[in-house]
Parts: sequence; structure tokens; C-alpha cells
Amino acid sequence: MKGDGRCLKLFLALLILFLQNVKGGEVGHNHSQSHSLKDAKVTVRCIERERQALLAFKRGLVDRFNQLSTWGSEAEKQDCCRWEGVYCSNQTGHVIQLDLGYSFLDEMFQLDVRYSFLDEMIQLDYHGYAFQGKMISPKLIELQHLQYLDLSLINFNDGSQIPDFIGSLTNLRYLNLSFCYFIGPIPSSFRNLTQLQHLDLAYNWLQAENLNWLPALSSLTYLDLTQIDFNGSRIPDFIGSLTNLRNLSLNSCNFSGPIPSSFENLTQLQNLDLSYNQLQPENLNCLSALSSLTDLDLSGNFNGSQIPDFIGSLTNLRNLRLRSCHFIGPIPSSFGNLTQLQNLDLSYNQLQPENLNWLPALSSLTVLGLSGSFDGSQIPDFIGSLTNLRNLRLRSCHFIGPIPTSFGNLTQLQNLDLSNNHLQPENLNWLPALSSLMDLDLSGNNLSTVFDWPEAVLNKLPKLVKLTLVNCSLPPPPTPILSTTLYKTNSSTSLAYVDLSNNHLTSSIFLWLSNYNTSLVALDLSNNNLASFNPDFTRNMSSFAYLDLSINNLTGFIPDFIGNMSSVVSLDLSDNQIEGANPNSFARLCNLQSLSLQRNHLSGQLSKFGKNT
Ligand SMILES: *[C@@H]1O[C@H](CO)[C@@H](O)[C@H](O)[C@H]1NC(C)=O
Ligand SMILES: *[C@@H]1O[C@H](CO)[C@@H](O)[C@H](O)[C@H]1NC(C)=O
Ligand SMILES: *[C@@H]1O[C@H](CO)[C@@H](O)[C@H](O)[C@H]1NC(C)=O
Ligand SMILES: *[C@@H]1O[C@H](CO)[C@@H](O)[C@H](O)[C@H]1NC(C)=O
Ligand SMILES: *[C@@H]1O[C@H](CO)[C@@H](O)[C@H](O)[C@H]1NC(C)=O
Ligand SMILES: *[C@@H]1O[C@H](CO)[C@@H](O)[C@H](O)[C@H]1NC(C)=O
Ligand SMILES: *[C@@H]1O[C@H](CO)[C@@H](O)[C@H](O)[C@H]1NC(C)=O
Ligand SMILES: *[C@@H]1O[C@H](CO)[C@@H](O)[C@H](O)[C@H]1NC(C)=O
Ligand SMILES: *[C@@H]1O[C@H](CO)[C@@H](O)[C@H](O)[C@H]1NC(C)=O
Ligand SMILES: *[C@@H]1O[C@H](CO)[C@@H](O)[C@H](O)[C@H]1NC(C)=O
Ligand SMILES: *[C@@H]1O[C@H](CO)[C@@H](O)[C@H](O)[C@H]1NC(C)=O
Ligand SMILES: *[C@@H]1O[C@H](CO)[C@@H](O)[C@H](O)[C@H]1NC(C)=O
Repeated sequence: MKGDGRCLKLFLALLILFLQNVKGGEVGHNHSQSHSLKDAKVTVRCIERERQALLAFKRGLVDRFNQLSTWGSEAEKQDCCRWEGVYCSNQTGHVIQLDLGYSFLDEMFQLDVRYSFLDEMIQLDYHGYAFQGKMISPKLIELQHLQYLDLSLINFNDGSQIPDFIGSLTNLRYLNLSFCYFIGPIPSSFRNLTQLQHLDLAYNWLQAENLNWLPALSSLTYLDLTQIDFNGSRIPDFIGSLTNLRNLSLNSCNFSGPIPSSFENLTQLQNLDLSYNQLQPENLNCLSALSSLTDLDLSGNFNGSQIPDFIGSLTNLRNLRLRSCHFIGPIPSSFGNLTQLQNLDLSYNQLQPENLNWLPALSSLTVLGLSGSFDGSQIPDFIGSLTNLRNLRLRSCHFIGPIPTSFGNLTQLQNLDLSNNHLQPENLNWLPALSSLMDLDLSGNNLSTVFDWPEAVLNKLPKLVKLTLVNCSLPPPPTPILSTTLYKTNSSTSLAYVDLSNNHLTSSIFLWLSNYNTSLVALDLSNNNLASFNPDFTRNMSSFAYLDLSINNLTGFIPDFIGNMSSVVSLDLSDNQIEGANPNSFARLCNLQSLSLQRNHLSGQLSKFGKNT
């Protein structure tokens, strides 16, 4: 059905918009820099042999969105130097740059495809790829003057290997074959790419077999081997001989053993990512020589050691990730020296929350992740003094007691996750001060004594997009005495995702939510005590894509408003006392993919609606 796709696309667009906003919107590194070559007045027509090579190369691609429409044999397309993604030298006319990477990605998917700082990678859907690769034509070898080759995000997922002949493009300075789904070995012909400065082979399914040619690429400043399988071996010593490296990523390479001492020679390194291997902590101190480091990621390594002291001496660090390292014991107080630090992720370790009084010194922090790292204590008051924080994650820390009122100082905060603790705040008076908040998750804490929570959360947070208060023992909010619109003081117009499932809410919650129905995309009120629908709420629900009202003891007939939920994709009314409905009300739900009505008192007549009743 045509409507389906549009609906889903809308939902994805909203989701992506949301993710971008919450993560600080790192969308689209600017490619106009590379396009500046094209802007130069190209008078030389391209070289015929190279034009033929490019056409052969195009025949090896499935160009689903016709993005290479400028590439062709027609008279007006003779000058291949004007083709999209092709750049020629304005002196010799030779093709020097071929860039079919990121800028060709379906724009909906042009979001940061790498790991964001605190979230796991957003998996690319195959639909996001502009090109499906069938083969890389060997005629590409004609482009002998090529300096820059970016084929990243061309999907060669049919078992292609990296062709040998790439190694004879010896003028290459930049080679990006990331996210191409290549399998097999890296050709040893790469030994000849001695001019190479940037080599990105990340996110393929490559095997590392004898990479002893790598030291020949002594000009490398950037090397990314993420996800290449080194089969549990040690990091080869020779990587430490690439002393011009500024960026090195060996993420998820299946390395074990210690870091080689040769790493102490990588003194130019600014960005080092060794995350998600099985590295041992023995030789970690060799990293203490890397005083230029601004970004260090050691997440997912080291089993059961203490955080080494020397990390606090890397005073240029801006981003430090030590997530899931099974680190035990205290965080060294030397961390108080890391005054440049903007992002700190220590989540999922077994740290002691004591002696954190160096933390206020990190006044530049914008992102702090300590989820799953502590075991039982109160939230330290001084976290509220980190007034530049935008993203604070304290999930599953076994925190007890109140939330410090100093949190009211965190006026820049966009994302606050305090879920799965044992917090029991008496009020949320500090919350309305967080006027930048977009995503709030207090799930799995006890809010049973906070009756005025909708006043603090719904009415006072103008930028809130996502609210998650699952399993909080939320009491029924008071029924507003006057018309609900009078209660709309400062309320959000962007609230789109609300999950209040597993609480003690009654239908008065509908009155509080009725200010938001034009923006709500997903609402989960399952497992509460709603008992009845509410006409104020149901007047306009055309924006809803997901609605879950299951397990609520709802009685009566399904109201006709259901028929106005023209965008709804998933509707769950199961486990209620509903007796029936006007079947016509379902007829207009063209986007519906999932409808659950089980365990009600319905007759069978509705079963023909929806796809997975
Ligand atoms: C991209 O670069 C161009 C030219 O340098 C500039 O005009 C434009 O604002 C930039 N766009 C973004 C999103 O940074
Ligand atoms: C193009 O040619 C002009 C001189 O004709 C030169 O100044 C310029 O740097 C050249 N641009 C590139 C990108 O090679
Ligand atoms: C290679 O391409 C990917 C995806 O387009 C991009 O994220 C990455 O930054 C590129 N690598 C380099 C070194 O520019
Ligand atoms: C690499 O260079 C060597 C020596 O210059 C040459 O013999 C070899 O054929 C080259 N390999 C490739 C794949 O071009
Ligand atoms: C991977 O390592 C195992 C031993 O750990 C070895 O038996 C196997 O041959 C190695 N596989 C490859 C492809 O090197
Ligand atoms: C890592 O290498 C070992 C061999 O040492 C192998 O058994 C294992 O499957 C590899 N793990 C991954 C995730 O590739
Ligand atoms: C560091 O480089 C120097 C000079 O090239 C070399 O002598 C030394 O062995 C290297 N250190 C390590 C640990 O490899
Ligand atoms: C290399 O690392 C630096 C420092 O972290 C970073 O600013 C830069 O974007 C990285 N380069 C690329 C091509 O990703
Ligand atoms: C980590 O250490 C624990 C206890 O020292 C051990 O039981 C476990 O197997 C280790 N895990 C790994 C992945 O080495
Ligand atoms: C770092 O902090 C420690 C203890 O907090 C202090 O003794 C040391 O001098 C500091 N080092 C640097 C390089 O600032
Ligand atoms: C933070 O809030 C507390 C209590 O609300 C207040 O006393 C303190 O001065 C504030 N600190 C900063 C740095 O704003
Ligand atoms: C459901 O509602 C009926 C009355 O409408 C009430 O008697 C019954 O106790 C409710 N059941 C639950 C589980 O709340």
C-alpha cells in the first residue's frame, strides 16, 4: 500500500529529527570544501580514456535514485569533469578526485552513522544506501592521477572483495572504502600506496592476513581499521612505526593481549580508538607519552583492573570513553586535571562513588555518562555545579534518596536519564528550571508522593520531545478544575514520545495530555487504570503513529475517534473490557500495520481490519 511507506517515512523522519536534536545534531559534515575544486572554471574537457573508465565504473553500480544522471554518453554530458562527484585537475584535465561517499546517501539517512558519544551506533538500513555495488570495474585503473577516492557507503554486500588493482592507483592520498560490506583480505598491493595519508576501511567484513606492508604507508595520518577481524591476535608492533598518525581507530578488531610498547612513539596522535577488543591492562602506561591526545576511547576492554592514574595527565583530552571496562575501585583524583574534557563516559564499570570531589573541576563537561557504574549511594550534590552539561546519564546506579535540588542549576541540560535507580524524590521543584530539556527518563524510580508531577514535567518544559516515566508508581494527577487550556502555562509544543506505562494513572491524565495531541507521535499508557476514554483528548489524534492503551480496564465501545487517527501504524487496545465498535471507524486507517484487540468483550466482526489482528 502506498500510504504505508509515506507514513513510515514520516515516522522515521521525525525519529531522526529527534535523534539529531538530542545528540546535538551532528549531521552532514560539509562537503562544499571538496566541491570547491569543481567550482574552479574547468575549460579542459576530460580525457576520453578516463571518461570511458568512469562509464565502465558506473555500469558496475545500481544507481537506484539516478544520482549519477550527469554521467552519460550524450553530447551535453561529454565533459566528465562536470559529472557529479568527479573532479579534474584544472591544469592537466586528469580526474584527480572521485567522491561517491556520504554526500550521495539518501538525505534522510545523512545522520552521524558512527557511534555517537553515549549511544550505540545507529545501524544503517540498506535503503539508506544510494548505490548498490555489483563490481568495481578494473577500468578504474585508467584513473592513474586519482588522488582522492571515496567509495564509502556503496553497498557491495554480494560478497565482493577489495580488488587488487586499487593498489596501483599510486597517487592516492585519500582512500575511503568504509561501510562497503567488502569481505576477505586487504590486498597486499596496498603496499604501493605510499602517498596515502587517509585510509579508512572501517565497517566491512575484512580479514586481517599479514598486514606487514602497512609500515610502507609511512605518510598515513589517518588509519581506521574498525571491525577488521584480527582473530584474537595482539596489536602488531609495526603500527607504532606509523609515527605521523593523528587518528587511529582499531575499534572492534578482535585484538587481545596488551597494547604494544611501540605505541609510545605515536606522539602525534590526537584521536585513538581501541574500543571493543579484549585488550589486557598490563602495558597501558605506554599511552602516557601521547600528550597530544584529544580523543581516547578504550571502552570494552580490560577485565577487572583499576583506572590507571596516568589518564589524568593527558590534559588535552576533550573526549574520553572508558565504557564497559569492568574497571573497579575509585576514579583517580588526577582526573581533576582534565579541565578541557567535554565528554566523559565511564558507564558500566564497578566504580566507587566516593571521592568524586575533583568532578566540579571539569567545568567544560557537556556530556557525562556514569550509568551502571556505582552501587548504592546518594547522587552527589556537586553534579549540579557542572552547569555546562547537556547530556547526563545516571541510569542503573542504585542511587537512593532524593534528587539534589542543585540539579536546578543544569539549565543547559537537554538529555537527563536517571532511570532504574531507587530514587524517591519528594518533589520535582528543581525540574522546571531545566528549560532546555528535550529528553527526560525517570523510569523505575518511586514518584508515588509527587502528585503534581504533570505541573512540573508537562507544563513547564517547553522543549521536551520525549518523556519516559515507566514503572514510577505515578499517582493519578489531580483533575484540573478549569478548562485544561488554562493550565497550559509554558508547555511544550514539541512533545512527541510519551511512555507512562506501568503506573497508577486514571483518565485524568488525558486532560493533562490533551494539550499535546497535535504533536504526539507515540503514546504508551498501558497497564494503568484509565477506565474510560476522554473526549477532550480524543478530539484530534491525527499525528499519532503508535498508541498503546492495553491493560487499562477500559469499558464501553471503542469510540469513533479511532477513525480519525489517519497516521496510526500500531494500535493496542488489548486486555480491556471493551464491548464493541463501529467497524467503519477502522476503515480509514490506511497505515495500520498492527491492531491488537485481544481479551476484550468484542464480537468477531473487526478481525478483517489491519494486517496482524
Ligand atoms: C558549508 O560550507 C559553505 C562554504 O564554505 C558555507 O557557506 C555553508 O554555510 C556550510 N554549511 C554548513 C552546514 O556548515
Ligand atoms: C586552477 O588553476 C589556477 C590557475 O589557472 C590555480 O591558481 C588554481 O590553484 C587551480 N586550482 C586547482 C584546484 O588546482
Ligand atoms: C569515510 O566515509 C565515512 C562515511 O561516508 C565517513 O563517515 C568518514 O568520516 C570518512 N573517513 C574519512 C577519513 O574521511
Ligand atoms: C607494486 O610496486 C611494485 C614495485 O614498484 C611492483 O613490482 C608491483 O607490480 C606493484 N604492484 C601493483 C599491484 O601495482
Ligand atoms: C585464528 O586463531 C586460531 C587460534 O586462536 C587459529 O587456530 C586459526 O587458524 C586462526 N584463523 C586464522 C584465519 O588465522
Ligand atoms: C575472535 O578471534 C577468535 C580466535 O582467536 C575467534 O574464535 C572469535 O570468533 C573471534 N571473534 C569475533 C567476534 O570475530
Ligand atoms: C620508538 O622509536 C625509536 C626510534 O625510531 C625506536 O628506536 C624505538 O625502538 C621505538 N620504541 C618502541 C617501543 O618501539
Ligand atoms: C581526527 O581526529 C581529530 C581529533 O579528534 C578530529 O577533530 C578529526 O575530525 C578527525 N579526523 C577525521 C577525518 O575524522
Ligand atoms: C573477567 O574476569 C573474571 C574474573 O576475574 C573471569 O571470570 C571472566 O572470565 C573474565 N572475562 C573475560 C572476558 O576475560
Ligand atoms: C594532577 O592532579 C594530581 C592530583 O590531583 C596532582 O598531584 C598533579 O600535580 C596534577 N598533574 C598535572 C599534570 O596537572
Ligand atoms: C546551585 O544550586 C544551589 C541550590 O539550588 C545553589 O545554592 C547554588 O548556588 C547553585 N550553584 C551554582 C554553581 O549555580
Ligand atoms: C474494572 O472496572 C470495574 C468497574 O468498572 C471494577 O469493578 C473492577 O474492579 C475494575 N478492575 C480492575 C482490575 O481494576
